[in-house]
Amino acid sequence: MTKPTVTLTQDQIAFYKQQGYLTLDAVTTPEELAFLRDCYDKMFREQAGREAGEQFDLGGTDEDGKEAVLPQILGFQRFIPDFDKTILYANCDAIAKALLGKDATSGGGHAIFKPARIGAATPWHQDEAYWGTGVQYRSMSIWIPLQEATLENGCMHFVPGSHKLDVLEHQSINNDPRIHGLELVASEMPHVKEAVACPLPPGGATIHDSRTLHYTPPNRSDIPRRAMIMMAGAPAKKIGEPGQHPWQAAKQTARNERAKRAAAAATTVKADRGHE
Ligand code: NI
Repeated sequence: MTKPTVTLTQDQIAFYKQQGYLTLDAVTTPEELAFLRDCYDKMFREQAGREAGEQFDLGGTDEDGKEAVLPQILGFQRFIPDFDKTILYANCDAIAKALLGKDATSGGGHAIFKPARIGAATPWHQDEAYWGTGVQYRSMSIWIPLQEATLENGCMHFVPGSHKLDVLEHQSINNDPRIHGLELVASEMPHVKEAVACPLPPGGATIHDSRTLHYTPPNRSDIPRRAMIMMAGAPAKKIGEPGQHPWQAAKQTARNERAKRAAAAATTVKADRGHE
């Protein structure tokens, strides 16, 4: 495996545990960044994974042909040749082990694109609000901008210490169940005070716990804002019956419909093979 170039200091580890987030100046190299950016632009140009429900508009109703305000691709690593040999991957794995323990690994991920001028905000949320209940998670996200991330183009914002909260009440963006993205309900917004903005150089990173409240503003600049988000975690612990948050159970997204169609088609193919 490629050797990591990042070693977290004891101060950085202590800061993360106390505040629920951390920023780093470099988790990749300029050469690798250029390669990643080329792959990234290609996958969004081609809407990679759309038919399987893995490419969709996080911030809109996502009809085919409609301009997306916050296009996202799940499992973006599949579209980058030899991703697991990159310095970025090695660093994310090392960061996960340093912050979560030796049993942590860097796994799935997603890529979120904020188009120039029209890219929408990603409203305040906790990542765990998207996940199943009945489980105690030990997880984090590592967010990597592929160009400078600024207040103007949509850099990350956090509420320090919010990783110690329970999962707060969320709803679909604009309370519209056709939209995949989540936002805190208005009555929870008092938790969002003293937010910290984290502008970053290209190829830097922010790291946040799965309960840390976070937000990115709209892209008001003339350049697209590209970000890769690497997920990392240690095995989750079962603490109750598996379930779903009510705001997730209420979803009626075009993306889910495409995923269901793709799964049904795969089952049909499998059944057909059974007749050979
Ligand atoms: Ni998030």
